Amino acid sequence: MKTIKPTNEQLDTLETVASGATVKVKAYAGAGKTSTLGMIAERFSTKRGQYLAFNKDIAAEAKRKFPRNVMCQTVHSVAFRATDKALTARLNLPKEPPHLLAARYGLGPVRVPTIIGKNVELSAFQVGRLAADGAGRFCRSAQDEPEA
Ligand SMILES: Nc1ncnc2c1ncn2[C@@H]1O[C@H](COP(=O)(O)OP(=O)(O)O)[C@@H](O)[C@H]1O
Ligand SMILES: [Mg+2]
Repeated sequence: MKTIKPTNEQLDTLETVASGATVKVKAYAGAGKTSTLGMIAERFSTKRGQYLAFNKDIAAEAKRKFPRNVMCQTVHSVAFRATDKALTARLNLPKEPPHLLAARYGLGPVRVPTIIGKNVELSAFQVGRLAADGAGRFCRSAQDEPEA
């Protein structure tokens, strides 16, 4: 990072970090948050930092800007590395479209009642998608067993 004269707010932040306290900085875009992080990284060059970005471009830009003691990664890449290979390998499995899933389980169209009393027909495709969505919701939940 290029050397700039820190503002009072940036100096305050540096001092608070030096005190060992946990710090949260909330400021408008362009207010100097990233620059402040850079100052912190340079001042505490023997410490290690972790910069988490939402996307790859931002992580790559941070990697160029920050000193070597700061790891710059996306949230997803950190999660990916921490996940069992047996699970991440499954991310590359081909996706089964809803109508094929329905066919494989022998699911045909179903008529279901609605709250206004009229029946509505769900196609095999829609039933397949309901099954896949339900399984997905279960996988992202903390439940031990799927509910009906
Ligand atoms: N103390 C300072 N003096 C002068 N310019 C500064 C200072 N701090 C930050 N800047 C400049 O302000 C601009 C925005 O800073 P940046 O850290 O990217 O803001 P943010 O991350 O909050 O969006 C950058 O061009 C940066 O170089
Ligand atoms: Mg920024």
